[in-house]
Amino acid sequence: MTVTEAIHGRYSCRTYQDKAIEKQKLDAILEAARLAPSAKNLQDWRFVVVTDKQSKRQVAKAANNQMFIADAGAIVVACSVSDYVMRCGQAVAPIDVAIAIEHICLQAAELGLGTCWIGSFYPDQVRPIVGVPPHVAIIELLALGYPSDSWRQPKREPMDKIVCFEKWSFAE
Ligand SMILES: Cc1cc2nc3c(=O)[nH]c(=O)nc-3n(C[C@H](O)[C@H](O)[C@H](O)COP(=O)(O)O)c2cc1C
Repeated sequence: MTVTEAIHGRYSCRTYQDKAIEKQKLDAILEAARLAPSAKNLQDWRFVVVTDKQSKRQVAKAANNQMFIADAGAIVVACSVSDYVMRCGQAVAPIDVAIAIEHICLQAAELGLGTCWIGSFYPDQVRPIVGVPPHVAIIELLALGYPSDSWRQPKREPMDKIVCFEKWSFAE
């Protein structure tokens, strides 16, 4: 599969098969996260991979009762230990973690696995379930597993609404 095919094939999977992810595939997916770029190459991301059924159910409840994520083979709890703010004023933690998560999503797509980003969750409810210490930010969750739904055409804005050249020339 090419990168282009993985980009086009990825979608938010919200129905999963009750099937464990093979260690070899999980290793390859986590390696994709490890190789992601990060500001100053800090690599301050930390990932807790939750596969235990009861823990997944608890995390799903903490994710605003999005129970479909409990059916995924794994829930990745994506954290950052960074409080570094770049010169541009942006904190690196959510940016770096987001890049690594999308690496995971694309590698997963190549390996036939589905993913769904989960931002609707309560960090302080997730924290005790997986033992994330108080000083560590839980940035995002990611459901990862074998899909039991299938690819849908993504709904996206037309290019001219989101891109312009040389000078800002958007209507709004
Ligand atoms: C930062 C972020 C947070 C998201 N949170 C959720 C979520 O909590 N629950 C959910 O079902 N989907 C969530 N999504 C998935 C988006 O709804 C989805 O990416 C968007 O609708 C586009 O659909 P597609 O991923 O299938 O192309 C999230 C996506 C991102 C990038």
